[in-house]
Amino acid sequence: MISLRTHPSPHPFVRKGLVAERPPGLASPALVGAVDPVGEHLGEGFWNERSDIAWRRLTRADEVFDEAALVAAIDRAARLREALPGVAEGDACRVVHAEGDGLSGLIVDRYKDVLVLQFHSAGWLLLEQPLLAALHARLGTRHHRVILDERTARLEGVRPREVLSQGVPERLRISEHGVRYQVDFSSGHKTGFFLDQRENRLLLTSLVQDATVLDACCYSGGFGLAALVAGGAAEVTGVDLDEGALALAKSNAKLNQVRAKYVHADAFDWMRQMGGQGRQFDVVVLDPPKLVAGKRDEFDGRRRYADLNRLAMDVVAPGGLLLTCSCSGALQRGEFLELVRTAARKAGRDATILADPGAAADHPVSLECPESEYLKTLWLRLT
Ligand SMILES: C[S@@+](CC[C@H](N)C(=O)[O-])C[C@H]1O[C@@H](n2cnc3c(N)ncnc32)[C@H](O)[C@@H]1O
Repeated sequence: MISLRTHPSPHPFVRKGLVAERPPGLASPALVGAVDPVGEHLGEGFWNERSDIAWRRLTRADEVFDEAALVAAIDRAARLREALPGVAEGDACRVVHAEGDGLSGLIVDRYKDVLVLQFHSAGWLLLEQPLLAALHARLGTRHHRVILDERTARLEGVRPREVLSQGVPERLRISEHGVRYQVDFSSGHKTGFFLDQRENRLLLTSLVQDATVLDACCYSGGFGLAALVAGGAAEVTGVDLDEGALALAKSNAKLNQVRAKYVHADAFDWMRQMGGQGRQFDVVVLDPPKLVAGKRDEFDGRRRYADLNRLAMDVVAPGGLLLTCSCSGALQRGEFLELVRTAARKAGRDATILADPGAAADHPVSLECPESEYLKTLWLRLT
């Protein structure tokens, strides 16, 4: 049992500085309980002395986090997805969204019968086997890929890890809203596909009939192909800096028997150039990578969001639409709105917010952990 200096907030993360004492010789990581200064039980969680998040709460009061609790948590998460319209019957969904599902530091995405697990806490290494067994048993899946990436390894003071079950394919074909995509497990970003944008891709399909569309930071073609195949867009241009992602986007276009133009370029430079030439699009989707990853790039990252949005607004035709996104958990929704407002003023454009839906519903957010609401998505009409 570890003891804390003060009674903590209900946030699932307890920082190092709040820990008063720990049992001598306690290994890191470990699954342990915590008490406040008056001995009140706070629950069980993952202890890791090497991480700034020294304790991640998994239960409350005197509840233990044993195998039965793990199975129950997975069942709760699975039942939520089964109840969400269009999620469980689709080819791919997020099955566990960390704190939003009460399983801090654990991401699980399902692609047909393949599960991709991302550990953001070293604690999950302790439970890898029972976790996989419980997931496959509940979901009827067969294959898995487990990742603890280099960034997490650095933050958690452990080695990076990647485990593939026997027979897990390198690529898999999925279908979403009638659009076919190949998911590349070996070199793809995130768990292979941006499942969090599923509902925004669907909304896009109803807004792009006969439109010219720019998909800025297009990755494997998600938005642009939805616009072409399911939305009846007239023309799609996708821009990305990652050649591997663009190759996948091109092969996804082929798979759907449509033509899109894909450009290997920095979105900042490309949109600046297009804006300078007076080129505009009816609909622009701007879904950049995480530009504010932490305290160190807070200032620079905010400036980059403002610049990028300003450049994107310059290439939206009068009366056109801009879907602008931020996946930086460290940037709160209100701050993002303020940056976009600043960009609109600089671009000399009036903007109306049409919708602000965020991530798809299989990415639930813990009220006590605002960082888990990482994806902000603003649909704007620009005059
Ligand atoms: C959040 S992902 C986009 C996901 C995509 N919208 C989807 O639905 O699949 C961000 C993408 O931005 C790309 N990227 C990063 N920096 C970039 C830059 N400066 N210019 C263009 N693309 C960039 C990454 O390669 C990545 O594919």
